[in-house]
Amino acid sequence: MIRNNEKQPLVEDKSHEAEAVGSTRSNTHFEFINESIRDFSDEKQRQQFKKSITSIKIQNTKHIDTQDLDSYITRAKKAQQHWQATAVYQRSAALLRAADNITTHRDAIAGVIIREAGKTWREADAEVCEAIDFLRYYARCAIELSIPEILNDYPGEFNEHWIEPRGIVAVIAPWNFPLAIPLGMTVAALATGNAVILKPAEQTPYIAKMLVEKLHQSGIPKDILHLAPGLGETIGAQLVSDSRISTIAFTGSRQVGLNIIKTAYDTKPDQHFIKRVICEMGGKNAIIVDDSADLDQAIVGVRDSAFGFAGQKCSACSRCIVLESIHDSFVDRLVAATKTLEVGDPINPGTDIGPLIDQEAEHKAQCYINIGHAEGHCALAMSSPLSAEPHANRPFVGPHIFTGIQQHHSLANDEIFAPVLAVIKAKTFDEAIHIANATDYKLTGGVYTRKPSHLTKAKREFNVGNLYLNRNITGALVARQPFGGFGLSGIGEKAGGVHYLRQFTVPRVCSENT
Ligand code: SER
Repeated sequence: MIRNNEKQPLVEDKSHEAEAVGSTRSNTHFEFINESIRDFSDEKQRQQFKKSITSIKIQNTKHIDTQDLDSYITRAKKAQQHWQATAVYQRSAALLRAADNITTHRDAIAGVIIREAGKTWREADAEVCEAIDFLRYYARCAIELSIPEILNDYPGEFNEHWIEPRGIVAVIAPWNFPLAIPLGMTVAALATGNAVILKPAEQTPYIAKMLVEKLHQSGIPKDILHLAPGLGETIGAQLVSDSRISTIAFTGSRQVGLNIIKTAYDTKPDQHFIKRVICEMGGKNAIIVDDSADLDQAIVGVRDSAFGFAGQKCSACSRCIVLESIHDSFVDRLVAATKTLEVGDPINPGTDIGPLIDQEAEHKAQCYINIGHAEGHCALAMSSPLSAEPHANRPFVGPHIFTGIQQHHSLANDEIFAPVLAVIKAKTFDEAIHIANATDYKLTGGVYTRKPSHLTKAKREFNVGNLYLNRNITGALVARQPFGGFGLSGIGEKAGGVHYLRQFTVPRVCSENT
């Protein structure tokens, strides 16, 4: 397959072309460097960050009604043709300006994430970096993708392949990465020439409002990107079933995701296309620790993967499968290491674990903690502080570790989305792999081992979308660890990867008899 560089779209603004097409690396044609996280060990950076986040106030974001949504879709439909006809360089230039805009205000934006979602300093800062990465990466990928391809140099025939936008994309976003995930889905759609209606999670509308404002300020037309805050049952449901929506990009729970898939594929009489659903759902992720593992590494890796952001990541470790011979000493050390974590108000720099997102999350966590007591042995039940300002209404649940959990137990199968870790004993590495695979979710997984044969076996047999060897299993980086699962963890290409953008496009081929 060769690139037909003469057949680029009309170029009005090439200011980012040099940046976009650099030297060849992996399967893109440009170098990509991830945004650097803040170094909070540096007093100056710490003080600067503190100053920016202390004054942040979360404002109420008004819900829209179904009439508002209808008018947004009408306006988006009208404006999309013009956005589609806009040169890809101009679209990408706007996204790169948005990346610069967010970079300039990165600490204040992290402050909003801390206040609205309860993330710690480090987690909030890392999320802002991921958001900036999505903007820069997809802006450049879109330019590459827009170049038509000549499929075959056959005498007397000219075969050309190109892509077009799908139309209007509904982005239905989660609260646990309230900036990076909605932004990633939105930017992928915008970069490829689609209009977007973004429905943020009910718990985190303010950060979504900020991100939409940043995109508008950077040159994304207002009618091309609409914020639609509201309830999932009304606004979300209307979006999914509207026959003018071509594509639904969803990240959230399995139950909601499966319902979206069912509704979206019910094609209406006035609908002249089949909707596409891109779904990122949950995980019941396992880390295997074998008897050759470097336990210093493994303990910190399991602890941070299980309890970072209070276990509220779809990538989090919720099962730790440990070989029998090291089980007891591993658990003792894991418990000791976990006890060093600080649970408290995330506005404080020393906090490792903040509150859960809401009362419903706490209720679910407490139910599973009770189940854990019945199914296994509680090796650690860390107490949680009383609610602290400004998280007065946010419940805290300290880390819990349950041992003696078996494959058939609820703790080994259900996604809890809280700092509750099930430890499962395995006799052999083969058995550990078997247990790890015994779930319908296939998102992340990890293995700590120093045996090359176990690393090879894990690569071949541990069925997850993102496998991590001898490291923690959360915090996938754009372009370096394209992220996404299969099985009942999701459907679609990996976010932050080179193939992600194609999902928002329609492929076209033309064969000319020359
Ligand atoms: N991409 C995130 C991670 O890797 C989860 O959504 O932790």
